[in-house]
Amino acid sequence: MKFFLDTANIDEIRDAAEYGLIDGVTTNPSLVAKEGRDFKDILRDITRIVDGPISAEVVSTEAEGILHEAHELASVHRNIVVKVPMIKEGMKALRQLTKEGIRTNVTLCFNPNQALIAAKLGATYVSPFVGRFDDVSEVGMNLIADLVRIFRNYNFQTQILVASCRSPLHVREAALLGAHVATMPYKVLEQLLKHPLTDIGLDRFLKDWEKAHQPAHA
Ligand code: E4P
Repeated sequence: MKFFLDTANIDEIRDAAEYGLIDGVTTNPSLVAKEGRDFKDILRDITRIVDGPISAEVVSTEAEGILHEAHELASVHRNIVVKVPMIKEGMKALRQLTKEGIRTNVTLCFNPNQALIAAKLGATYVSPFVGRFDDVSEVGMNLIADLVRIFRNYNFQTQILVASCRSPLHVREAALLGAHVATMPYKVLEQLLKHPLTDIGLDRFLKDWEKAHQPAHA
């Protein structure tokens, strides 16, 4: 299972990359807006740190505008994956981008039929938003289970990118279900490797070691 970092913050990306923990990055317009910098500059910086898929989202809602933005974004670097919203015009553009061999990530997917359409049109990734689904009292992970089953039924090459992961539990469940990728904020990535019993255990080992190696008449 691949881990993507869901951020446009260069410090976070650099830090996670130093530990070898990330296979790619996802951004969205809200995350980019938070940084207050030029979008393409941010993307160029990310490509210098991470050698993996980097999702960059279009903001047009008409196929023509989406295609124009997609070409601009894809020209920044070979690792850019164009993120297209799950709307009719987005799907029109997706069909063309697939023909051109431009990698895509269909975002804001909230039901299996939307994901099925994206897969039929050749999306590289489809992004179901589990956290936002949980927010409205639906079980986000049920959507992932459905998608895994549907994609296996038809042997789609489209990868299920579990987005809007808000906790380590989302990542664990996505892995158990066999999703291809989970994208998560820096905080969740850090939480993945923590356990209080690890810290308590290490502390005890180190103290015992220190006691045993005290000089006898120190
Ligand atoms: C990633 O591709 C999505 O844009 C992101 O995971 C959304 O997360 P949020 O629902 O926590 O904003």
